[in-house]
Amino acid sequence: MNLEDLKTLTASATAEIQSADSADTLEALRVAYLGRKGKLPEIMASLKEVAPEDRPAFGQGANRFKVAVSEALETRKAALGTTAAPAGALDVTRPGDAPPLGGNHPIRQIIARVTEVFDRIGFTVATGPDIDTVFNNFDALNTPADHPSRDPQDTFYLEDGTLMRCHTSPVQVRYMLNNPPPVRIIAPGRAYRRDTPDATHSANFHQVEGLYVAENVSMADLKGDLTYFAREILGPGVKTRFRPHFFPFTEPSVEVDFTCHVCKGKGCRVCKNSGWIEIAGAGMVDPHVFNAVGYDPEAVTGYAFGMGLERIAMILLEIDDIRRLYDNDVRFLRQFA
Ligand code: PHE
Repeated sequence: MNLEDLKTLTASATAEIQSADSADTLEALRVAYLGRKGKLPEIMASLKEVAPEDRPAFGQGANRFKVAVSEALETRKAALGTTAAPAGALDVTRPGDAPPLGGNHPIRQIIARVTEVFDRIGFTVATGPDIDTVFNNFDALNTPADHPSRDPQDTFYLEDGTLMRCHTSPVQVRYMLNNPPPVRIIAPGRAYRRDTPDATHSANFHQVEGLYVAENVSMADLKGDLTYFAREILGPGVKTRFRPHFFPFTEPSVEVDFTCHVCKGKGCRVCKNSGWIEIAGAGMVDPHVFNAVGYDPEAVTGYAFGMGLERIAMILLEIDDIRRLYDNDVRFLRQFA
């Protein structure tokens, strides 16, 4: 090593120290330059190879190296000390990490809303299992032995003879078997059918069942309560329409339509130009059902209804395809959270 090398080394060492970004790097540099096995002892050792007449200058150069490196280390250490906390220290000024928050699924939101609306007129929530008996799902609901909905083409049967309930109506049966009248319940939950999935069908969907049984319950109660529900959910301008229909467990039976939320009844693509959207099946509880659960059809009357919750979610949230509700695409779900 000659004097020129020594000057170059001094310059590069101090530059390197000035750009050190942590106390650890700084300490490693101190060891590399000034440590017992570092550059400085190496420089001192090379002194004896320098020509005698050049030794004083080289000696001064070696001293400048030592002073410059020491000063650079001190300066850098002070600078790092004011800008960065020592490793492992708690930085109380650091902004907190916001954990990502989940949200309720649209179906959960609709269930909450429907529950709240019916709660205000005295309905409580009842539940039943997704797997139920043929008795609860069909027999007690006065469904004839040859009714097409009993076909394994339409309903999922399990090996032990039970089934995946194809509507929430078995909850009516369960509730009446276990509670005397009067009854005022809604039962939100899943239902299963052998449907080929498309934009409006799913083999696993949700319904909310309603059941009101007491003395002198009439069709007027059904109309009044479902119209109240329609207005609470879709707004005060909504009209309802009750069309004659057939269900084994209600007599008379109706299908219930609400005026289309998009065109307000004028007719548009969403309602296929009819101005109406079908929302529910309903009717007066058939006396055969009361007999099956041990209620006296001479003493009480009642109404029941069942409606699809996906249908309501799709209307309220303007969702065009039922399958989006089950894809669990967070980009989609986040819009409703
Ligand atoms: N269970 C019927 C269905 O799934 C709906 C319904 C419920 C109809 C209660 C009348 C009374 O289509």
